[in-house]
Amino acid sequence: MCVSKTRLAVFVSGSGTNLQAIIDAGIPNVEIALVLSNNPGAYALERAKKHGIPAEIADHRDYSGREEYEKRVLELLEPYEVDLIALAGFMRILSPYFVRAYKNRIVNIHPALLPSFPGMHAARQALESGVKFTGCTVHFVDEGVDTGPTILQAVVPVLDDDNEESLLERIHKEEHRIYPEALKLIASGKFRIEGRRVLAVN
Ligand code: GRF
Repeated sequence: MCVSKTRLAVFVSGSGTNLQAIIDAGIPNVEIALVLSNNPGAYALERAKKHGIPAEIADHRDYSGREEYEKRVLELLEPYEVDLIALAGFMRILSPYFVRAYKNRIVNIHPALLPSFPGMHAARQALESGVKFTGCTVHFVDEGVDTGPTILQAVVPVLDDDNEESLLERIHKEEHRIYPEALKLIASGKFRIEGRRVLAVN
């Protein structure tokens, strides 16, 4: 029996260590159909090239506004027949227009235990708040910023001698473990979304 794989697009802007983790995991039910970057200089594009993964660049600076930019991204996606989009360090906020086009088919990884510390500099926010534990979250993207239903989380302790860099480094290790795991779960279809909860279905 030939079961078709989920066609995944990974959106990046920078180094792409999460992209690398997704590639290295070799998720059996997922095919990385496309890497899309808004930044022509993203190292993630090199990673895609090295692994023979198709890549597209849509530089937001070439467009007059968000709507025009997102229209172009949707156009670029079309021929790749993508089922799922994984944001992996993609530094653009997607508007409700785009999110609706891929409703419940966009996921993101965030370096904190949401709903704590949404937005930028999540590890810095954790350090400044004095929490003893932080972590990372894979979640569906809804129309808010870092507000969608949680798929998986991992906990990372905040150590007394941590600075932003050391804490982020340990968070990243967990990101690289749970992002592929979450994508495998989503691709399996064995889940349902109930309000803000993502529940496993056998
Ligand atoms: C990660 O920390 C992720 O949580 C955040 O952006 C960073 C991406 O890093 N959304 P990389 O490009 O995958 O190395």
